[in-house]
Amino acid sequence: MNLDDIVIQIKKDWDVDKYPEDWNFIIETDDKLKAKATEQFLKENRGLIFKNSNEVKKIYLACFPSTQVLKEISKDSLLITHHPFDWNGIGMGFKTYSDEDYKIMEENGISLMFMHVSWDAVRNEKDRVSTGYGTAKILNMSVRGEFQEYHGALVSVYGALPLKTIDELVKYIQEKLGNNSLNVFRFGSNESGLVGLVPGGGNDVDMLQEAHKLGIRTYITGCTNKCQHPYSVSKSKEFLKKAKEYKINIIGASHYLTEKWAMQQSVSYFKKFNFPVKFIENIEQMKILD
Ligand SMILES: [Fe+2]
Ligand SMILES: [Fe+2]
Repeated sequence: MNLDDIVIQIKKDWDVDKYPEDWNFIIETDDKLKAKATEQFLKENRGLIFKNSNEVKKIYLACFPSTQVLKEISKDSLLITHHPFDWNGIGMGFKTYSDEDYKIMEENGISLMFMHVSWDAVRNEKDRVSTGYGTAKILNMSVRGEFQEYHGALVSVYGALPLKTIDELVKYIQEKLGNNSLNVFRFGSNESGLVGLVPGGGNDVDMLQEAHKLGIRTYITGCTNKCQHPYSVSKSKEFLKKAKEYKINIIGASHYLTEKWAMQQSVSYFKKFNFPVKFIENIEQMKILD
């Protein structure tokens, strides 16, 4: 099937053009990316980033477009990721493409599109699942509401989890998400109370304030305080200070393990194009866990 037709259909079904994106903080200093990326990505920061084939034979889904993921993809495929760039949660955060990445994509006719805000925008359908609902399902959360606006979309959920104390909850999240290195900040009581689930980068003071207003006592997010980028360092410091003041427990379960479930749970939507569809794990993210 023609690549452009698939991309148009996916963008329409997932409301990709509804939400603004801004990845200029990476694009503007990366001349190689400017030379290789599609005009549309450079202009709108959305949709198809690299076009290396006209036809598509297989679709792959992943959370981040890492070298390891690219190596697992067969020829003439479309890779669809949640983020347009790979992530180093204990380094400088988002990182751009290597020469090896470009070589793999170009030699194998691998095209790449991403859906960032559109995959975060709350959605809980059989075939299309947002990051917040994807993780909530894995944790068996009984969702009571949605909150937090990000680029025009509500992205987070809150509700009750089947465990009543923080001690039990920490063990439970470790097991359910497969994360043995949770970043736990016990700022509140040992009662878990109302739980907020903020996929990805919830280390943000405005987001926390909204959670506080809703009465959330335990705040599960991805990133907490490991990223070394100066922007993240100051954000995290302010965020944790406020959480301590509000006496809200913080559980950092990693960027990857609070978002990847939505890609996995949305495989069935992409099967409508009648190709094989495969979700690929970002193996190296399991070593980072922030
Ligand atoms: Fe996200
Ligand atoms: Fe993310």
